[in-house]
Amino acid sequence: MKIAMVGSGYVGLVSGACFADFGHEVVCIDKDQSKIDRLHEGVMPIYEPGLDALVESNVAAGRLSFTTDLAEGIAGAQAIFIAVGTPSRRGDGHADLSFVHAVAREVGENLANDAVVVTKSTVPVGTGDEVERIIAETGCKHRVSVVSNPEFLREGAAIGDFKRPDRIVIGAEDDFGREVMREVYRPLFLNESPILFVSRRSAELIKYAANAFLATKITFINEMADLCEKVGANVQDVSRGIGMDNRIGPKFLHAGPGYGGSCFPKDTLALLKTAEDYDSPVRIVEAVVKTNDSRKRAMGRKVIDALGGMEAARGKKVALLGLTFKPNTDDMRDSPAIAIAQALGDAGVKVAGYDPEGMEQAAPLMPDVQMCKSPYEAIEGADAIAIVTEWDAFRALDLERVKALANAPVMVDLRNIYKPDHMQSAGFTYVSVGRG
Ligand code: UDX
Repeated sequence: MKIAMVGSGYVGLVSGACFADFGHEVVCIDKDQSKIDRLHEGVMPIYEPGLDALVESNVAAGRLSFTTDLAEGIAGAQAIFIAVGTPSRRGDGHADLSFVHAVAREVGENLANDAVVVTKSTVPVGTGDEVERIIAETGCKHRVSVVSNPEFLREGAAIGDFKRPDRIVIGAEDDFGREVMREVYRPLFLNESPILFVSRRSAELIKYAANAFLATKITFINEMADLCEKVGANVQDVSRGIGMDNRIGPKFLHAGPGYGGSCFPKDTLALLKTAEDYDSPVRIVEAVVKTNDSRKRAMGRKVIDALGGMEAARGKKVALLGLTFKPNTDDMRDSPAIAIAQALGDAGVKVAGYDPEGMEQAAPLMPDVQMCKSPYEAIEGADAIAIVTEWDAFRALDLERVKALANAPVMVDLRNIYKPDHMQSAGFTYVSVGRG
């Protein structure tokens, strides 16, 4: 089967490479000539473990190709995926659908055969109807079914998530759409991945509801962590204790500095906008968004407290370890490290930062942070060390070396990767999240 993937960003490229690996013929299309040129040279536009090898082997097998020419790319494709960005619109937080609409128009104008057009981009409820209208308006004479197929890919684990999904959600309104999508995902049926056929609007909402629910779960445990600190309880024990209840489940109950990334912040805001438009408020999600936003800066205050408070902190130095919003990505979008560095800078604290993959992306977002080549370089002369992202490289720091290099052995572990008693016996003043 031939598949066209319009948009070769994170979602488009991972999905395209995985479909090719299943044996489909896939053309990834993108308007960005330099991105396509680099892909031809085997250079990935993003850091995602395993993606370069997957792309290389499928290009070599002749199943995966890249082009900037949409008409050529979609020719003969039975399924055309729209996987372009839907950023938050400046000013109001609505999802900006201009790229999705532009692709729908171009597809309608250039379609030369019957096809299923699939929105994979995260789009608000009703976008499928709009895509259908736009294609019809172009005067396209071929049979077109517009389907919603949201992605649930975690950065850093995207290939595994694609190949072994908890579920595949297909929102289709007719048999043509359902049949083609069944064929697209047939290799996954063989793995017995559950596939859920629903209406297009339900599929669109499932994506937002899933992300809002996960963001809520994280925010809930973060507030429990704050309460644990006040009452002298341990949030990791609380997480375990509630997570063993099957109705709650153990995942997404790690307390930390607040969620960031390309999805949760943007999608929760967009859901609030949809809810407002339909006069059906989702107050829980409103509270989650506010709580998470203020938490990130509050984590900066936590570091300042560890330095002895505002007065004492002025002029001191903090090493920030981990700048990306989570490990195994170079993505800095809405990373808590940005707000933390800002809060520290505002308090007159000097900040040195290190990240295994995100330095290049981080530098322009944190102009006052001194970027270092290793965790130890950042730690040199620091009055406190703050672990912001739980990269494996920080899990087994040479603590003796850290103590020797730092000005003071103070560690603020915002991801709870060390054990308090171990750190205390190693001679550290150790502060973590929700552990008394
Ligand atoms: C998320 C969804 O998981 C994915 O299904 C969706 O399609 C895109 O958004 P991603 O943003 O890549 O994926 O990261 P994820 O691993 O879900 O983490 C999101 C944020 O929540 C990170 O900042 C992470 O540090 C934080 N988090 C996650 C916690 O603070 N605690 C947790 O228990 C889990």
